[in-house]
Amino acid sequence: MSRKLSVKHLLGIKQLTTDDIELILSTADHFKEVINRPIKKVPSLRDITIANLFFENSTRTRTSFELAERRLSADTVNFAASNSSVKKGETLIDTVNNILAMKVDMVVMRHPNPGACVFLSKHIDAKIVNAGDGAHEHPTQALLDAFSIREKHGTVKGKKIVIVGDVLHSRVALSNIFCLQKLGAEVMVCGPRTLMPRYISSLGVKVEYDLRKALEWCDVANMLRIQLERQDIKFFPTLREYTMQYGLDMDLLNSIGKEITIMHPGPINRGVEITSEVADSANSIILDQVENGVAVRMAVLYLLAGRSDD
Ligand code: CP
Repeated sequence: MSRKLSVKHLLGIKQLTTDDIELILSTADHFKEVINRPIKKVPSLRDITIANLFFENSTRTRTSFELAERRLSADTVNFAASNSSVKKGETLIDTVNNILAMKVDMVVMRHPNPGACVFLSKHIDAKIVNAGDGAHEHPTQALLDAFSIREKHGTVKGKKIVIVGDVLHSRVALSNIFCLQKLGAEVMVCGPRTLMPRYISSLGVKVEYDLRKALEWCDVANMLRIQLERQDIKFFPTLREYTMQYGLDMDLLNSIGKEITIMHPGPINRGVEITSEVADSANSIILDQVENGVAVRMAVLYLLAGRSDD
């Protein structure tokens, strides 16, 4: 396996090879050991400056990137669109170029528009990490999800993983589908027909509309958040009806008669896609996902910083 990524930027999982993903996961193994030491900091990115540009809300991804950068001794600058000159009409390219003029080496960006990172990568020199672009991709979430499945089950290859819920509006779903398939998993999506993209079958996933059948099939269930903020029309009658058909509670989980690992990218709508009992149960690896996010993001930043710009 090459010790170098095949890409200059992390724009999406689609652009990564299986070797790239495996390199990121094995590098994250090392950083997970590092962040569990009494002294969690390494000098790997000393003298590298990273700008975290968040044009959309975030708790986990933003905190996780900031911690990953600090653990690697990078210098960081944080930018939130809500209190910036974007509000005065400055364009994305102007905003980023002004930040880069202050000698920034890498940009971590979350943006509401699908493709914003790809667009930026064509106009600026710095390395770009996509921290979520609209309903398109969320590559570091998929990488930390794959890392967490591998940690729990020993491997991703051959595992049956169902992604449940609002697939239509989910960047987590698309990145997970690409990532898990590249690692040899079988992937199913499950949810209301109205929340399934028309092109879903072309991605080579199984499609199931009955949650019980999906749970009976899978080893791992990744429960997606209902993204009401991206739904300008009604995709189901009420949240209560959604929960009745696609919500996971302990009664349903226990009735399946086998051990299923429960994941959720967060933020959780407790009582909508999963109950608190499921989220906090022994089946859940939700907080492991959050912990692993720091190690995975350290690996991504470290590998991209080390890649020459050839
Ligand atoms: N999983 C995730 O992207 O969460 P945030 O929106 O809080 O970053």
